[in-house]
Amino acid sequence: MLQSSNLSTTNLLGIKDLTPQDINLIFSWTKQFKEVINRPIKKVPSLRDITIANLFFENSTRTRLSFELAEKRLSADVINFSASSSSLNKGESLVDTVNNILAMQVDFIVLRHPEPGAAKFISQRVNAQIINAGDGTHEHPTQALLDAFSIQEKFKDLKNKRIVIVGDILHSRVAISNIFCLQKLGAQVALCAPLSLLPRNIHSLGVEVITNINEALEWADVANILRVQHERMDKSYFPSIREYQLRYGITMERLETLNNIPLIMHPGPINRGVEISSEVADSKYSLILNQVENGVAVRMAVLYLLASQGHNS
Ligand code: CP
Repeated sequence: MLQSSNLSTTNLLGIKDLTPQDINLIFSWTKQFKEVINRPIKKVPSLRDITIANLFFENSTRTRLSFELAEKRLSADVINFSASSSSLNKGESLVDTVNNILAMQVDFIVLRHPEPGAAKFISQRVNAQIINAGDGTHEHPTQALLDAFSIQEKFKDLKNKRIVIVGDILHSRVAISNIFCLQKLGAQVALCAPLSLLPRNIHSLGVEVITNINEALEWADVANILRVQHERMDKSYFPSIREYQLRYGITMERLETLNNIPLIMHPGPINRGVEISSEVADSKYSLILNQVENGVAVRMAVLYLLASQGHNS
């Protein structure tokens, strides 16, 4: 195994706070842990005696299970909390809930919450290391790390690679974290979406906007396709799902008109037949299940490095 050197942070609140060296260190450990979890004995004792609470105040399949598996592969003790079955329904505050869980001698909090900034808010008020597992429309750092790692596995290096993010950028923490992560690794990032689904100040992040989906796909080495997040919308942002599917949906017919077909990614959950067709999602161009597989090793690397950091600080 590699010698651990340090991350520049003791919490993972967002990709914005990481240096390129941090990201490369996480990727070095991700490679090591990916080897470990492909062995017959998939467990290492690295986090024995560390207790981790996974606090999910918003629905999740991939992130919640992937963190839990990563923690168990590292031999941590794990407790899981889901808001719908908790005493939050009886009026307890977020800080009180977290502090009560920490009173049970918990070392790490993995937090998913619908409010942007929730992870930072908690990190300033409680005595534990915090990993942001997605906070509203703000950031989803481990998703961006696993996305970038999955691209790097295919191309060796992200420098000057062209990645287009397609879809509901306005409501997407995945898009924001991906932009920060890919740019820190030297990639070029473009966005393609209806203008109503692009944040107004998006150019300040140094991204190009390509309005025509066919031009965007032709430009790209990789297209990361996002779901339309109806649950975060309080009004209509486009005329109809059918219209969206026709103008922005990724279908095999559309891909087959291109000179070079990009690799296709999606953070999940996918809405088949809306932003992506089943044929594309299940095709040889799709990295969707590679992303999910890499999520466990990326999260092992993050947990391992942050735990080392916590012990050193
Ligand atoms: N990509 C992602 O965050 O999926 P979940 O919402 O299922 O965790």
